[in-house]
Amino acid sequence: MPLPTPTPEDRFSFGLWTIGYDGKDPFGAPTRPAMDPVHMLEKLAELGAYGVNFHDDDLVPFGSDDATRDAILDRFRKGLADTGLVVTTATTNLFSHPVFKDGAFTSNNREVRRFALRKTMRNIDLAAELGAKVYVAWGGREGSEHGASKDVADALDRYKEAFDVLGEYVTDQGYDLRFAIEPKPNEPRGDILLPTVGHALAFIETLERPELVGVNPEIGHEEMAGVNAAQGYAQALWQGKLFHIDLNGQNGPRFDQDLRFGAGNVRGSFWVVDTLLAGGYDGPVHFDYKPSRTEDEHGVWSTARACMTNYLVLREKARAFRADPEVQEALAAAGLPELAVPTLAEGETWRSLADDPTPDVEALGARDAGLEHLDQLALEHLYGVR
Ligand code: GCO
Ligand code: MN
Ligand code: MN
Repeated sequence: MPLPTPTPEDRFSFGLWTIGYDGKDPFGAPTRPAMDPVHMLEKLAELGAYGVNFHDDDLVPFGSDDATRDAILDRFRKGLADTGLVVTTATTNLFSHPVFKDGAFTSNNREVRRFALRKTMRNIDLAAELGAKVYVAWGGREGSEHGASKDVADALDRYKEAFDVLGEYVTDQGYDLRFAIEPKPNEPRGDILLPTVGHALAFIETLERPELVGVNPEIGHEEMAGVNAAQGYAQALWQGKLFHIDLNGQNGPRFDQDLRFGAGNVRGSFWVVDTLLAGGYDGPVHFDYKPSRTEDEHGVWSTARACMTNYLVLREKARAFRADPEVQEALAAAGLPELAVPTLAEGETWRSLADDPTPDVEALGARDAGLEHLDQLALEHLYGVR
């Protein structure tokens, strides 16, 4: 298979904080100089990306005065126009400044909560102006390390209040913008509220405007929680809630590795891509990774290219897997078409089951379900021997 070439039609997007990561970690200083956002736009366009996104503070440093903000934004708008890159989403940094050390929307401190909402609304204005369709909400500091320090019910009330206020804000302003909650189990907080896709989906149903809020699952975060990422994406699609995706790589439950897409659990990544194709996900294909701090700028661009290459390779493999007649046979043998048939026929109720003959449970228990063969076919496609 020749190395595939990314094009804007593939709708790949990157966060300024991903390619702009300077290598600083809890144990070490930056290993790369800060990168100019307009330079990032130019390089991304050159590589075939479609879109870009940012936290408010990625673009305009926290605390900048209005004149500085305007000058930065003017230059960025020009960069977008020159490169043709699209702003797909935007988000708020509600985690870096010490003011957010005990959370933002769910901080115990009311002044902090009001400030967090104001900061978010200000960046929502910019997001809407730049044409973003999704506003991502990752609540990295919304959580706790100590049992009694956070009343979870009150915190969830405040979390709900925040999304209700923001939902009202975008509605009143007439913005065509929806929210995507990004779950994560831990890091930076010891335990983060809404730790998995499932928690977030349940929470969304409590909101005043649930139709405005979906999820932005990140592969790495689901893997950190020890759950199957593809299943999370599939359930979000099933509930019409997959508003955005964060793709990256992770090897099991440990610190957030943010590896380039495809470099973590490869098999898991294959099933995520397969799930996105099957579910008809048509939003931007966004990478939220951190180029290793061992590399210089050259390494940054080679990892950005690699994220896109790996997606295109896995997309090709997932398509080939689904199109393979042997796979279709194996799917039928494993009973997949039957799973799509309702358990009760049209017009039947629980009463109808009473008349069912008892099946031969011994024979059913002894049947070959055909699951291993099906899985092996997937692996053979993935390994490139089919
Ligand atoms: C993380 C998160 C963030 C969010 C980003 C957008 O673990 O650091 O994945 O990168 O995706 O803040 O909201
Ligand atoms: Mn992450
Ligand atoms: Mn993310």
